Amino acid sequence: MYNSKYVIPGIILFVVIFTSPFWLNIFTPKYNYPELAKPVGPNGEAVECVEPVKWMRANHMDLLISWRDAALRDEKRVYVSSTGKEWETSLQKTCFACHSDYDNFCLKCHDQNAVEPYCWDCHIVPQGNK
Ligand code: HEC
Ligand code: HEC
Ligand code: HEC
Repeated sequence: MYNSKYVIPGIILFVVIFTSPFWLNIFTPKYNYPELAKPVGPNGEAVECVEPVKWMRANHMDLLISWRDAALRDEKRVYVSSTGKEWETSLQKTCFACHSDYDNFCLKCHDQNAVEPYCWDCHIVPQGNK
């Protein structure tokens, strides 16, 4: 074959690069979603987060900042959710009332994602739930 000295390694190289997403996928460790403590109501009944879970997963940080601004700058202590339900804009009285197992919820996911919110320099997190 004309110039096969270059063509064949070229084809092999092309095949390796072309299929590399497949190979890399095999060798990349899988992301294990952490097992989180699921909150329940005072009588063990099911409760729902202030917004849909998927939305919360992606947006809880922004929601908290907007709650803080609403509470402190605008004296607005009530948040109306997308379903029309009213919540007090408070970390302590709202978020941690349900997510009382801080270590097995917030912390567990933050640790896995190397996130360290500075909020707890001032705000208290629920203790003793290990
Ligand atoms: C009335 C109880 C309640 C309140 C109040 C509440 N949550 Fe939730 N939250 C839940 C429940 C129940 C889930 C779903 C857990 C599950 O399905 O594993 C959840 C899910 C979440 C998730 C997603 C977890 C995941 O599986 O990815 C985040 C993040 C979260 N909440 C943060 C907050 C924050 C921040 C606040 C305060 C702004 C808050 N929650 C207020 C009950 C509550
Ligand atoms: C399912 C995983 C998960 C859970 C559960 C979770 N977080 Fe987060 N949180 C994250 C991730 C990931 C980020 C970083 C997002 C980014 O940097 O854009 C984050 C960021 C934050 C931030 C902003 C930090 C900063 O420095 O910008 C705050 C505040 C926060 N989370 C509070 C909470 C609280 C309070 C809870 C428990 C009620 C909680 N989170 C539960 C995944 C989670
Ligand atoms: C330097 C100290 C400090 C830090 C750091 C801090 N806060 Fe606050 N925060 C306060 C104080 C003081 C208040 C006022 C308490 C009040 O009047 O209700 C407050 C109020 C709030 C409120 C509304 C009222 C309540 O009880 O929850 C939210 C929500 C809030 N902060 C969220 C956050 C979040 C999220 C972070 C981290 C991204 C954070 N804060 C970091 C000091 C701090």
